[in-house]
Amino acid sequence: MSKVRSAQSATKDRARPIDHQTAHEIQGYGHITRLPIALSEKTAAQSVENLNQVLADTMTLRDMYKKHHWQVAGPTFYQLHLLLDKHYEEQNELVDTIAERIQSLGGISLAMAADVAETTIIPRPPRGREEPPVQISRLLHAHEIILEEAHSMARQAADAGDDGTNDLLVSDLIRLNEKQVWFLSEHLVDVPLVKAD
Ligand SMILES: [Fe+2]
Repeated sequence: MSKVRSAQSATKDRARPIDHQTAHEIQGYGHITRLPIALSEKTAAQSVENLNQVLADTMTLRDMYKKHHWQVAGPTFYQLHLLLDKHYEEQNELVDTIAERIQSLGGISLAMAADVAETTIIPRPPRGREEPPVQISRLLHAHEIILEEAHSMARQAADAGDDGTNDLLVSDLIRLNEKQVWFLSEHLVDVPLVKAD
């Protein structure tokens, strides 16, 4: 091969993406990488385990909001369609906050749907469409499951000295879930629409 042709070939090869690469994982799921955050490995591991549970449940609740946003029916379609999507967006932001807290603790956050489905304790809804009161009841039940576990996880984090995790659970997760429960619950109050009783 001439010098010119070999230079042309080298230039061409340098632009070729090196795809289909594989290698071993750099950190196994369930293992903690120690970071200089002044928390013991035991404390970080306990928080990571709790946060991955509440992450899986939050991702499930988030996705249930989108399901109901798409599938809602009836005279209140428009307001529920918009409200359910607003709650979806807020839960989606919370998912990112929880996942990044797990990484900050040196853990590995759950990410993929199959792993989330195996982990969540929220009952699986049917694929078909349901009436709005049933959709809302399902969402309220999921919120309560998450709030119940979050209260106990927040206390555990506080007792272990993991103030960051305690703060996330209380200030971000518990407060958001309580507010969304209020907004949903008011839709199940049976008051007259036009003529007072
Ligand atoms: Fe939409």
